[in-house]
Amino acid sequence: MSVHVQNSRMTTAKIRQMKVNGEKIAMLTSYDFTLASLVDEAGIDILLVGDSASNVVCGNQTTLPITVDEMIFLTKGVVRAAQHALVVCDMPFGSYQINEDEAVRNAIRILKESGCDAIKLEGGEEILPAIRHMIQAGVPVMGHLGLTPQSVNQFGGYGLRAKEETEAEKLLHDAKLLDEAGCFSIVLEKIPAGLAERVTKTVSCPVIGIGAGNACDGQVLVLHDMLGLNHGFKPKFLRYFAQLADEVKGAVGEYIRTVKDSSFPNKEESY
Ligand code: KIV
Repeated sequence: MSVHVQNSRMTTAKIRQMKVNGEKIAMLTSYDFTLASLVDEAGIDILLVGDSASNVVCGNQTTLPITVDEMIFLTKGVVRAAQHALVVCDMPFGSYQINEDEAVRNAIRILKESGCDAIKLEGGEEILPAIRHMIQAGVPVMGHLGLTPQSVNQFGGYGLRAKEETEAEKLLHDAKLLDEAGCFSIVLEKIPAGLAERVTKTVSCPVIGIGAGNACDGQVLVLHDMLGLNHGFKPKFLRYFAQLADEVKGAVGEYIRTVKDSSFPNKEESY
């Protein structure tokens, strides 16, 4: 007797097919089981355990300090939550730049220990040998071009990238290389919409934008930003889909008030 297991989980092949079908791809970051469960139940296509966890979860100024161990720890919770979405884990700064062997070793370790479906890493031609090696080893890779926050010290800030023709041409060239190497998708961060459209039309893999206009095959945002949990951060590309900072502060304020005036817990809330 054969047992048929229905698999409704997203795969990299299904993500590729969505571009072919002209179906937009929705991706959000997630860093813990509880929120990832809600985002997954809402029907997101891809859950990205971004190294933005360094800022959002750990309170660092940049993405640079977070480690492979910390990314694996966070990703395990998100993987347990994902019933439908594809789970992608960011490779942190320093885990793939030293040499290609170390890069592949870290990519395999992240895949094995966290249970994620794919990894993402920042850069173009300069990290191509590592990307090729990973894909040959069976690790699905998502590329990331444009504003690559792990290079903030080189860029000197988080401004718009590829405004000038030379950088725009390099970005297009890098995107073609990543596509040819077999990346199943590419994130484009904070670049002019026209350039993102050119890249999207040129490469065969899906292009997922953040601050890269509406012509991309999909969009990604940092969950805490789009939920309005961080009012200090409002770049032009960000839309607040909720105002949870106010909700959280309101609820906590009410809790404090009721503890202080002894109205919580009441009789019904006591044993
Ligand atoms: O780390 C992250 O959150 C990201 C997204 C902004 C794409 O890389």
